Amino acid sequence: MDEHESGYFTEETSVDVVTNRNKNAENQRLRAVMEVITRKLHEAVKEIEPTDREWMEAILFLTKTGQICDDYRQEFILLSDVLGVSMLVDAIQSRRPSGATENTVLGPFHVGGAPDMAMGSNICLDQKGEPMFVHGCIRDLDGKPLEGVRIDVWQANDEGFYDVQQRGVQPEFNLRGVFKTQSDGRYWFKAIKPRYYPIPDDGPVGQLLGHLGRHPYRPAHFHYLITLDGYDKLTTHIFDPDDRYIHSDAVFGVKQSLMAEFKRKEDAEQAAAHGFDGSVFYDVEYDFVLVKSKTTALTRPAQK
Ligand code: BEZ
Ligand code: FE
Repeated sequence: MDEHESGYFTEETSVDVVTNRNKNAENQRLRAVMEVITRKLHEAVKEIEPTDREWMEAILFLTKTGQICDDYRQEFILLSDVLGVSMLVDAIQSRRPSGATENTVLGPFHVGGAPDMAMGSNICLDQKGEPMFVHGCIRDLDGKPLEGVRIDVWQANDEGFYDVQQRGVQPEFNLRGVFKTQSDGRYWFKAIKPRYYPIPDDGPVGQLLGHLGRHPYRPAHFHYLITLDGYDKLTTHIFDPDDRYIHSDAVFGVKQSLMAEFKRKEDAEQAAAHGFDGSVFYDVEYDFVLVKSKTTALTRPAQK
């Protein structure tokens, strides 16, 4: 009898018995991960002491979470989001030096293939919503403006829906665009003032939030995916600090450094210069700071 087959299962020995059974796993990372998960999971069960009914409720919850998933809906990611796990994984994977722009969740509504647009273009294709001018500069940690940066931006409409949630209602690629910086590192485009919206809450995760006395809302934000060869990919948002849900984001994505002032302006001349009808528009300025990829930093001295 191998060691991994030895030992009878009791409350006291449960972790060791299960962990020993996994000893022959070929993948050492899998074995190590399962050891931690077994230890933490058994600890939770021993502390909670679930009744059979509670255990079955948990199983049914996970079953329903799987059943609602399809090519467009990923309820398990949503579950990870509302448990704070997505943000924790992201925080661990994107530790950066101070001064660099912080990451936050990607979310489920990014789509590849958004159109390349000339700087200054309007990403709002259906003329709905309050006009907003979005601008800033992209630099490295030394303050040098970065050229050739790809900025992929997306936002929800003024009713709180992304285009992919309202196919046939919003034009395809509404409120999405890809821009590229020139040597001054600057970016600017026209959009609409975003508003808060609920994460998809008609499934088991929404029900869980309800049972926990939590709302499903995310505060108003713009999403950015910012890339440049030789630099770490930046997946982030900028948030409206005046939004009513800024301190209770359903997915914990808000960071203080990612708040930008969404300024209301009443200036006919400036509005006309931006190409907006009327004299009222919103303005937000936010600069991003990228970090050189570690591999580039390591190979650089050798190249000299
Ligand atoms: C979003 O901001 O698009 C989002 C992020 C996490 C879950 C749901 C939506
Ligand atoms: Fe979003």
